[in-house]
Amino acid sequence: MTSTIKTDTFVFQTYLRQGKAFVRGEGTTLIDEDGTEFTDFLAGISVCNLGHCHPDITRAIERQARRLVHVSNLFYTAPQADLAAALVEKSFADRVFFSNSGAEANEAAIKLARRYFQSKGNKNRYKIITMKQSFHGRTMATLSATGQDKIKEGFAPLLDGFIHVPFNDIDALKKVLDDTVCAVMMEPIQGEGGIIPADPEYLAQVRALCNETATLLIFDEIQTGMGRCGTLFAHEQYGVTPDIMTLAKALANGIPIGAMLATQDAAAGFDFGSHGSTFGGTPLATAAALEVVNIIADQNFLDGVVEKGKYFREQLIELKKKHPRIVDVRGRGLLVGMEIDKDAGFFVANCFKKGFIINGIQDKVLRFAPPLIIEKIQIDKLVAVLDSLF
Ligand SMILES: Cc1ncc(COP(=O)(O)O)c(C=O)c1O
Repeated sequence: MTSTIKTDTFVFQTYLRQGKAFVRGEGTTLIDEDGTEFTDFLAGISVCNLGHCHPDITRAIERQARRLVHVSNLFYTAPQADLAAALVEKSFADRVFFSNSGAEANEAAIKLARRYFQSKGNKNRYKIITMKQSFHGRTMATLSATGQDKIKEGFAPLLDGFIHVPFNDIDALKKVLDDTVCAVMMEPIQGEGGIIPADPEYLAQVRALCNETATLLIFDEIQTGMGRCGTLFAHEQYGVTPDIMTLAKALANGIPIGAMLATQDAAAGFDFGSHGSTFGGTPLATAAALEVVNIIADQNFLDGVVEKGKYFREQLIELKKKHPRIVDVRGRGLLVGMEIDKDAGFFVANCFKKGFIINGIQDKVLRFAPPLIIEKIQIDKLVAVLDSLF
């Protein structure tokens, strides 16, 4: 039985999969069981930001796997301490809570926002405002936070206390932000929603409104963080800092990890015993993540992401001039979206046939999130394939 048949027979059928089983990854290349090579423009959905099996990350994992893999958070370990210190040093935050995934990091943020007020005796302040078209995860709380009805079907009743407002609409936010709201939670650039950046003015207004009302501001940077948008965290480009930020995906380049970062003030919402996770921040995952942070936070590396992202969008804008069926090209850094007035599935399938992995979201948006080590020549080759498909 092949891996394809075995998977389709024994694994829950919650994912629509493509092609044959992958057996190896090297940089921007994925190789399947037939030896066919693909250029990866998705990076496991913005996870392998340093490319597949990056030698430094592999070395860090190997080294740590020989030393110590897990001890539980009842004890101290150096990799977790070093990663927390590095994240604090490179961000607005003062403290970090580690989880295993993005949804869990967001769960932690939701719980922290509620407990921040409840621990001060303010039990009425529990609502969280999130954005329409947002995506925050698949657990019950993060699904409740998510602003897309389609993926909530069949799971009612969801968690109480979430209000969804249109993205980039400050008046809509003002209308619902009252003294029952503990937090506003948003992605600076909506990923699953179709690669939609926040307007800079809007984000500044959201921050100001949160300041005026002493409401916590949570940025979900699970997809946009770790250099994906050309800065270590996307919000740096907006000059706006949150009180709480969540990370996951690319944080350890493929080893599962999530993190919730917060200011000292916001972090006071949790005390001993108020939250926990068996696997959160294991020595193995944090050793890998520390290596990732050290590589990605390098300014030359980030400048390269900005330059390649700009180049990529310029090539797609040229394509748009030629093909009126391209509606829009958008994004930041190497998180790039191209909206088309055609079914995205056609492009995804045909790029795959020609050896390129891309992804379709919201039916009509092509998402490109290649490893940040992608080269211009590879961008040119993909653009030529896209050109041939119109
Ligand atoms: C913005 C955002 N938040 C949260 C999540 C959920 O992360 P995970 O799948 O690791 O639970 C995702 C995943 O795509 C995401 O893009």
